[in-house]
This record gives sequence, C-alpha cells and structure tokens, in this order.
Amino acid sequence: MNAIRENAIRLNKCIVLPEGTEDRTLKAADFILKEKLARIILLGSKAEIDRKSAEFGLQFVQQARIIDPKTNPEKEKYAQLLFEIRSSKGLTFEEALTLVEDPLYLATLLIKTGEADGEVAGAQNATGNVLRPAFQIVKTLPGISVVSGAFLMLLKDNPYVPGNILVFADCAVHPDPTASELAEIAVSTALTAKSIAGLEPRVAMLSFSTKGSAKHAFCDKVIEATRIAREKAPWLQIDGELQADAAIVEAVGMSKAPGSPIAGKANVLVFPNLETGNIAYKLVQRLAGAEAIGPVLQGMAAPINDLSRGCSVSDIVNLVAITANQCGEK
Ligand code: ACO
Repeated sequence: MNAIRENAIRLNKCIVLPEGTEDRTLKAADFILKEKLARIILLGSKAEIDRKSAEFGLQFVQQARIIDPKTNPEKEKYAQLLFEIRSSKGLTFEEALTLVEDPLYLATLLIKTGEADGEVAGAQNATGNVLRPAFQIVKTLPGISVVSGAFLMLLKDNPYVPGNILVFADCAVHPDPTASELAEIAVSTALTAKSIAGLEPRVAMLSFSTKGSAKHAFCDKVIEATRIAREKAPWLQIDGELQADAAIVEAVGMSKAPGSPIAGKANVLVFPNLETGNIAYKLVQRLAGAEAIGPVLQGMAAPINDLSRGCSVSDIVNLVAITANQCGEK
C-alpha cells in the first residue's frame, strides 16, 4: 500500500466521492487531501459537509470541490449529456433531469466530462446501485464486455504463498459468467495483479476438479474459459481446471497436475462464478485474518470502485489510492 500511495501522490488524480456527507468518507477525504493522495470532488450538501467537518475537526476538506447535486447550477448540462448517452435506451430529458440529482449518477457524468478521473463509492450504497450508473454511462474498455471485481488478499506469514499476496476474482460483480466472460475476467485479473499488486501473474482457473478428476458441465466451462483466455492472451501464464489446493500447494499440485506450469505456484485465483468468489474471499478474510483490499473493479472504461458498507476510513483511503493508480494505468 505504501508504494500504491506514493504513486497516487505522483499521479495527482481527481477522484469523486459521491457519498460526500457520509462520516467515514468525509474523514477519509480530509486525510487524502492532507496527504495529497488525490484531488477530491465531494457530492452533497455544502452546509452538511461544513457542519460535520467542524464537528470532526477536519481541516483539509475545504480543499475539495463540493457540488450539491440538488442545487447544482449546471444540472441541465449534465442532464443533456445523460440524455444523449441514454436516450437510445428510452430515457427522456425529464427523467435525466431527475437522475442527475442522484450523486451516483452525477459522479459518473463528472467522469464522462473529464472533471473527475475516477470514483469511489459504496460506504452507504449497495454494490448494484454503485455499478448500474457506471455500466450505463462510463461503460467498458474497448474489447472488454464484462466488468468484474478483484480483491488483493494480503495474508500473514502464509506457508503456501510466497510474498503473502494473492489476487482473487470475480468476487463482486458478475453472478454467472459464460466461459468467454470467465476468460475475460482471467485476463483482466492478471492485468490488475501486475499493475496494482506488482505481481508476475500466474493464473489458476479454479474448479472442484483438477485436470479431469471430475466430469461436469461446471468443469467444462472452466476448461473452455482457460482455452479462450490462452487464445485471447497468449502471453498469459494460466492453467485450469484446478482445485484450490492443487493451485497453491506445491506438493498437491505436483501430484494432481504434474507438468502444470501453474499448479502449486498460482498467485491469481479465478473463481468459476460470483458465489464461489465472494464466499471464498470473505472466508479467507475472516478465518485467515487476511486484509482484503477491494473490490478493484476491472474492465471499466474509467476506474470506479465499490466499497463494502462495513468499510473503515482507511479502507476508503486505500481504495482511493488504488483508484488513482488505475487512472495512471489507463
Ligand atoms: N459488465 C459490464 N456491463 C454490465 C455488467 C457487467 N458485469 N452487468 C450489467 N452490465 C450492463 C448491461 O449491459 C446494461 O447496460 P445497458 O443498460 O447499456 O444495456 C446495464 O449494465 C444494466 O444491466 P442489467 O442487466 O439491467 O443489470 P442489473 O442492473 O440488473 O445488474 C449488477 C447489474 C447490479 C452489477 C448485478 O449484476 C449485480 O447485482 N451483481 C452483484 C453485485 C453484488 O451484489 N455483489 C456482491 C456484493 S460485493 C462485495 O461483497 C464486496
């Protein structure tokens, strides 16, 4: 995280925080501005932000640009932009005028106009509500059809993981990917592992089967996804289908998947669907005491990241720094 924070300072990106009046978000914004990790746009009532800043003794929040979506004098400009983007989906100008009062919509429009480079939200809002406007307005990177969410899992003295970092995906977004979408998720996650965690990615495509030990349509999907990922990204070090122990424990990998370049050495774990990915990251976080940083959303045309509603101030600071790094990568 130190390297990520230092790089964020160097990049000096502008991150919009739509939940601008939320207590942890305000405290995080104050710290971010004090440390110059990013420039900040806060969305919400200025009076409330001022009142809470005084109550918490925050001295740097005033450096943020503050926009109140309800009284924003430029409402029509953003409504027009939203209307242009979504009228083909049946959105009327009147509906757009209402939607730009929603901070989660306004945040993505600020990215679209180039006023913000990235967004972090979710301290107060459910994942779906954060993601929907992002999907509709910012959309995906060229060549990518599916957004997914990765976690950097920072382990403690783990005997199976040299360096103590694993990257897990998809743990946050796409409930039931097809083989082709799973292949995209694998490639995106390898890029995240390289750019954000500084890893040389070795990707394991996880299943309940290792190299044909079980036969089921679920395993076939993972085998097919591995094939497509190799085709899409011939540079990628990837193997599947592998069980989790075969992926990360050398002795198990050697016995269940002899000759695999990844078995026993994986540092990127791609789960077959959202159920397995989300359950796995939460269990590793709680039972192994791992720090779970993310979800880092990957595949979006601009970096937008979603917090857990149980997040701490430091989770928000870290995710803003990661988001700034993603802006740099773009
Ligand atoms: N990648 C890119 N675009 C997408 C994706 C995706 N993964 N999913 C949907 N879209 C796009 C659609 O193409 C559509 O675009 P369009 O309107 O321009 O045609 C738009 O988003 C809306 O699509 P819907 O099918 O209506 O999607 P919906 O809004 O129903 O659901 C959502 C999308 C909210 C992300 C849904 O998949 C979801 O709820 N996922 C689970 C999120 C979640 O709860 N995660 C677990 C908690 S997170 C945690 O624990 C850290």
